[in-house]
Amino acid sequence: MPPNLLISGGHILDPSQGIDRVADLLITKGKITWLGDKGTAPSQSDLTTIDATGLVVCPGFVDLHCHLREPGFEDKETIATGTKAAAKGGFTTVCCMPNTNPPLDTQTSTDYVKKTAEIEGTVQVLPIGCITKGRQGKELTEMSELAKVGVIGFSDDGDTVASSRIMSLAMDYSHALGLPIIDHCEDKELSDGGFMNDGWVSARLGLKGIPKAAEEIVVARDLALAQLTGVRLHVAHVSTEGSVELIRRAKEKGIAVTAEVTPHHLTLTEERIMDSQPKKHNQLAYDTNAKVNPPLRTKEDIAALIKGLKDGTIDAIATDHAPHTSVDKMCEFGLAAFGISGLETALACLMGLVHSRQLDLKTLISKLTFEPARVISTRYGELGTLKPGCRADVTLFDPNKEWVVDSHDFASKGKNTPFDGCHFKGRVIVTLVAGKIVYRADS
Ligand code: DOR
Repeated sequence: MPPNLLISGGHILDPSQGIDRVADLLITKGKITWLGDKGTAPSQSDLTTIDATGLVVCPGFVDLHCHLREPGFEDKETIATGTKAAAKGGFTTVCCMPNTNPPLDTQTSTDYVKKTAEIEGTVQVLPIGCITKGRQGKELTEMSELAKVGVIGFSDDGDTVASSRIMSLAMDYSHALGLPIIDHCEDKELSDGGFMNDGWVSARLGLKGIPKAAEEIVVARDLALAQLTGVRLHVAHVSTEGSVELIRRAKEKGIAVTAEVTPHHLTLTEERIMDSQPKKHNQLAYDTNAKVNPPLRTKEDIAALIKGLKDGTIDAIATDHAPHTSVDKMCEFGLAAFGISGLETALACLMGLVHSRQLDLKTLISKLTFEPARVISTRYGELGTLKPGCRADVTLFDPNKEWVVDSHDFASKGKNTPFDGCHFKGRVIVTLVAGKIVYRADS
């Protein structure tokens, strides 16, 4: 790592400090030390310079929700490959979900993830602990023990805690520990056996649908429980207009709730399952790469999700990177695994919203940096900012660079993307973690 690194002439966009201008950024020994007008940095001996002309320079992206699959599902992803994919996507911190095998419901498995990430990880990994043992929804984990090994919150992601009594107890403990509950909202009784959004497309394809109410029932219940317990509730992968409205009203009432939305729920509708996109790599007629939970919804939901981002109802964009093997996906629709490999396409597909003027660049970067960082306790360091003194986690991207997605080029083992073959405009060029270049695009 060069002791002094100057990132020169880039468009610095740091919503945490309200900075949006062409400037220089100086990094010394892994920390941001200075930010100011181009060509005016204090002189340094032994200086390396990156010319960032034409690039956006922003805090490294913070992903509140990804699946790194290790331990237990290393055929889908490992901490090494998942964090490489993160770096390629401009993410410098990723929070990993505990639906591994064994799950992250003990200090031992959680510590394994932390230690492996320290040795093999390319970016910072912050684990999320299970709410219940084995994610069975029956018995709480030793939440305070998990907090001691550094989980950033609790979730049974993939499953909902069906019992309101157990969820309310979990919220009491989580509140006492100062950590959020990260909530997978799905009434499994209602969604059970469903594969996609319940609507005209599911009717036409003859595939069992998952009604929007399956999500909204649990969002409503858990907002009520959050009000009761005072816990910080973070709603994961919001997908419906109704959920956005519930969260908006809860925020107005002063309930401590935050929420995230994924790039795919912001850009794809249920029609995508019928495979209207370019065919690549043996995609099936009903594209299992678009099978995800919660399912892709409708254009009205997308409009509500974007509105929610803009008015502050939705705080963060999180990938829900869910890598699977080709065996998991190259099968009939009903049998295929739910999930999208999302780390490496996130920025580019979101830049589509910017180029089409549905979202401004500042809001987008805020939702990828400083706002998700606020969901994570500052005991893990100040993230999502270029403030002097902070660790130099920095992403440089070209907002206008055109490219075509080819999943074979992914660093992730998960090639399961509905964006294969898509033409995108916007590409990560350099990612720095603690001042070290962890990814640099081929020129
Ligand atoms: O599509 C999904 N895949 N949704 C989830 O909630 C879990 C995830 C996975 O682990 O594959």
